[in-house]
Amino acid sequence: MRFKYVAPALLLGAALVTALGAAPAAAQQDVAKFKQSQPTEAPSLPKLAWSFDGPFGTFDRASAQRGFLIYQQVCSACHSMDQLYYRNLSGIGLSEEQIKAIAASVQVPGGVNDQGQPIERPGLPSDHFKAPFPNEEAARAANNGALPPDQSVLELAREGGPNYLYAILTGYRDPPAGLKMQPGMSYNLYFPGFQIAMPQPLQDDSVQYTDGVKPTLDQEAKDVVTFLTWAANPEMEERKQTGVRVVLFLVFLTGVTYATKRRIWSDLHH
Ligand code: HEC
Repeated sequence: MRFKYVAPALLLGAALVTALGAAPAAAQQDVAKFKQSQPTEAPSLPKLAWSFDGPFGTFDRASAQRGFLIYQQVCSACHSMDQLYYRNLSGIGLSEEQIKAIAASVQVPGGVNDQGQPIERPGLPSDHFKAPFPNEEAARAANNGALPPDQSVLELAREGGPNYLYAILTGYRDPPAGLKMQPGMSYNLYFPGFQIAMPQPLQDDSVQYTDGVKPTLDQEAKDVVTFLTWAANPEMEERKQTGVRVVLFLVFLTGVTYATKRRIWSDLHH
């Protein structure tokens, strides 16, 4: 019988496959266990509904203004925003008077006096946002060796944009038991590698809002992210408006073309 060896051969094959399969399966279990104790993947980003989402989205001005307050009172201690001038703040609806006062609240280099000593003067709307550190070395020295990135275009520079920034600001947790933290680092669910050199910058009531909105951590994070997104995309609203106008025009043009076609062809039907 030619087929008499088939059944044993199949059995042997099945046994081999099982044995070979079992080894990787066991290894996979080990990996899974390892992952549980040492998380290697960040959870997926929260997806918030932002005022500036979608083709008609605009920046919630009140939120962006509260966000600037947070930048001014909290983030600007470590993060520069080199590409912004104080006068740009008119883009989030601040008045000229408010902008003058904000600029004047910082001291900037003002040339030299008649003894040749460098002097300072109050800032003007035409000045750049004042940086917290004179240079990168000083910034690193004050931050456990890490450089606080410039925040002018941070929203564009990170995958996930606003949702990532929000996730970082709200992603601080106690490190899982058994995870060895580097000195001076904080555990953050969303930072690559989970250890971030920025101590948790926002908590409930980190700032006082003047418009009656409650400064919870969630609210503060949303507000500062709205501000940072505006800062990185100040022309976004205009771009969207142009886009909407172009689409409306194309719809109109299609209508006109169709009407014209019908008219021209109408004579030919009979
Ligand atoms: C005490 C200084 C300090 C303050 C205050 C601070 N940061 Fe940071 N921040 C840092 C440092 C340092 C890093 C770099 C972290 C690293 O590389 O581990 C950083 C990094 C970040 C990152 C980047 C994460 C990435 O993907 O690189 C974001 C976003 C951020 N900060 C936002 C903020 C916001 C918003 C505020 C204000 C609410 C703020 N920070 C306040 C020091 C600070």
